[in-house]
Amino acid sequence: MTKRSRCGGVDSDAVTGAACYWAAMRVFLLSDLHLALANNVRLTMFGDHWRAHEAPMAAAWDATVGPEDLVLIPGDISWARAATSVGPDIEWLAARPGRKLLSPGNHDRWWRSRDRMRQILPDCCTPTGTKWQPFHGGMVASAIGMTAPTDRFFGDREKKKWPRRLAEVQRLCRRVAEARRELKSGFALLMVHYPPCDGFGNATEISDVIAGAGIDLCVYGHFHRPEEWQASWNGLRDGVTWALGSADALNFTPRCLGTVEAGRLLLHQGMTQPAGPPQVQEEAGE
Ligand SMILES: [Fe+2]
Repeated sequence: MTKRSRCGGVDSDAVTGAACYWAAMRVFLLSDLHLALANNVRLTMFGDHWRAHEAPMAAAWDATVGPEDLVLIPGDISWARAATSVGPDIEWLAARPGRKLLSPGNHDRWWRSRDRMRQILPDCCTPTGTKWQPFHGGMVASAIGMTAPTDRFFGDREKKKWPRRLAEVQRLCRRVAEARRELKSGFALLMVHYPPCDGFGNATEISDVIAGAGIDLCVYGHFHRPEEWQASWNGLRDGVTWALGSADALNFTPRCLGTVEAGRLLLHQGMTQPAGPPQVQEEAGE
């Protein structure tokens, strides 16, 4: 079923923007929302700044994002464990302005196939996946990625998953590069949940693959520690603009990355590492 949405006053396909890709659209990023309205998980174990975070995050979102804007959400959307119980968190998302591009993170146990997600999600939310999709004169795709072998949290479980997750990114990037050449797409946007660099800011095989494929913008999340935010990649490096979107790192406020206009992705220059909420900054300075 084709989803319809409003874009620049013209009805258009929410994914391809077929009828209005020339209209300017602001692109925001906010990852790792960790919505807990569906199952009441106590998030304060991750710090006091997570206490009832949905309300201030909604206020910041509503004050920042307009109905014609786009918000990229690369994973850890909800703590719900099943598609049948995610309702309250999806209602929270649907109540926020703008269109949303979603991909799953390691905590999204409710996430199913893209076709199933299309049935579950409201029209303002578009699921992405490892098959690229045309997007406003460019293309978009997503992969979950994996904690890098040089990261402090790379253990036996990650070691088992790494070859498959790396191969997934390699396959996806190869397809995106081929399709982009063939279709002469204006840009390529990739959403990954796990950071392409490790927690110390080192390049990985995954970041090398992404850079080698000529991806223009790679957004990611997963980092929740101030030292990781400091090490994270934000801005232009190896031809790719990278941006960390973890909600706590961004003080629960969507970050504007630039605009899509006339089939071109125009990104802000001078992006810096997110600093996190005020109390975390103080802790980090100790
Ligand atoms: Fe997370």
